[in-house]
Amino acid sequence: MSTCTQAKRLEAAGQSHLLQFWDELSAAEQAEMSRDLEDMDLEEIDGFFRTAMSTSCQASQEKLDSRMEPVPVEVLGSVTRDRERLHSWEKEGLLRISQNKVAVLLLAGGQGTRLGVSYPKGMYDIGLLSHKTLFQIQAERILKLQQLAEREHKSQCCIPWYIMTSGRTMESTKEFFSQHNYFGLNRENVILFQQGMLPAMDYNGKIILEGKGKISMAPDGNGGLYKALGAQKILEDMEQRGIEYIHVYCVDNVLVKVADPTFIGFCVQNGADCGAKVVEKVNPSEPVGVVCKVDGRFQVVEYSEITQVTAEKRSSDGRLMFNAGNVANHFFTLSFLRDVVKVHEPQLQHHVAQKKIPFVDLRGRLVSPDKPNGIKMEKFVFDIFQFAKKFVVFEVLREDEFSPLKNADSNSGKDNPTTARNALISLHRRWVLNAGGRFIDEAGAPVPVSPSLKDVTDQTVKCEISPLLSYGGEGLEELVQGRNFRHPLVIDNKGAHELLKNGH
Ligand code: UTP
Repeated sequence: MSTCTQAKRLEAAGQSHLLQFWDELSAAEQAEMSRDLEDMDLEEIDGFFRTAMSTSCQASQEKLDSRMEPVPVEVLGSVTRDRERLHSWEKEGLLRISQNKVAVLLLAGGQGTRLGVSYPKGMYDIGLLSHKTLFQIQAERILKLQQLAEREHKSQCCIPWYIMTSGRTMESTKEFFSQHNYFGLNRENVILFQQGMLPAMDYNGKIILEGKGKISMAPDGNGGLYKALGAQKILEDMEQRGIEYIHVYCVDNVLVKVADPTFIGFCVQNGADCGAKVVEKVNPSEPVGVVCKVDGRFQVVEYSEITQVTAEKRSSDGRLMFNAGNVANHFFTLSFLRDVVKVHEPQLQHHVAQKKIPFVDLRGRLVSPDKPNGIKMEKFVFDIFQFAKKFVVFEVLREDEFSPLKNADSNSGKDNPTTARNALISLHRRWVLNAGGRFIDEAGAPVPVSPSLKDVTDQTVKCEISPLLSYGGEGLEELVQGRNFRHPLVIDNKGAHELLKNGH
């Protein structure tokens, strides 16, 4: 496209400002910018902007209270209230895994702006004794789970790991996995693909420039998954491998039970096409989305979409009525995803995320704003719950399964590397205690058992169990029962070998 045609096209779309520094760009920069602009459907982007803004404006005015109902008990399973069924669900899940019918899909296309690192969040080291990154922890859980399913069913199996990246995270993620030899997984079973990107806009719908010749682009939200599944032929890959069930999760949850067989078994035995894991919301003002029904259809309702009165409502058992806190941990059947990609995806609307977006001012200088100055348009992974024919909800314990890494230690006391690290330490310490191990201090005196997560600080018992040894606390008795341990305690393959060698 000639520069003149391009200029006319931009003018018609109200985006002429994008060429304001054109004459200052080198030939290579001009060529790159031309390519970027040509790839953009300006009319479509303008349509997305208008719809997203008007939906967001409407949503901020209209509360959903009167249209909401809590999750009905018939579709609810719980790790605490359904103890007698957990074993059967787990067995079912392991069977499906052993039959190569289960895949995991990681959402790792986010920019991690709150954490403030320039590389993908999965490469972050939260300061564990082993210094394992989030990617490594998840890879090792997959390896261990394959082993458990193989042992149970005496047949070799594999859990393919699909990793959604974005233009911002693809290259470094690819390089990281290759440098680390895919953490012991088979390279062909780690499938990286890329989600789409959209330009960041100011509040008037003008596309933001982050350099004189560079448009500010952002991934299109974790719900960009559905477009990408079709565009990148991921569903076809799943079909070819015979996958039937998919566990989708976010990269930043250090406690995530990747391909959790109990959750999968629960969903399968209930004939669900779509399922969500939740944790109990206990504080009415906790800003977490809740899974519930709106106008008879399942959806995640954000804290800002309900009034305080509804948020505080309690059921007869004293628990919050809307207490199913979403932890972005989902189950989908392949056939459901096929329908979503083919039929429903285009109906999904973008949400507006107000962000601080670096931009170049009229003189071409880069400005980093200290308050939101524009929007990114995002679809959400849970936007498809409404299309499920059979939706189920599985309640798990927060301290066992959910501790997201969102912020840097320096900018928030919540959901940061310290809280993530402590959550994992606390869980592993409980595993050791449950398996009959004990911790002693320097003087040999027993360390008191303090089961509460909030009591765990860097000063208390430091303990880490390699996921290669235990997926969910199983199999530790022979290593720890009746033994005293001084912290810091790391039990990895080598440590386990020593423990077995030394006997009791
Ligand atoms: P968040 O919404 O917490 O975003 O993503 P983020 O990118 O991690 O962090 P901030 O908001 O910039 O600080 C939740 C999950 O969804 C993924 C993230 O990688 C994370 O696993 N995600 C988010 C995507 O895969 N694509 C996106 O476009 C956005």
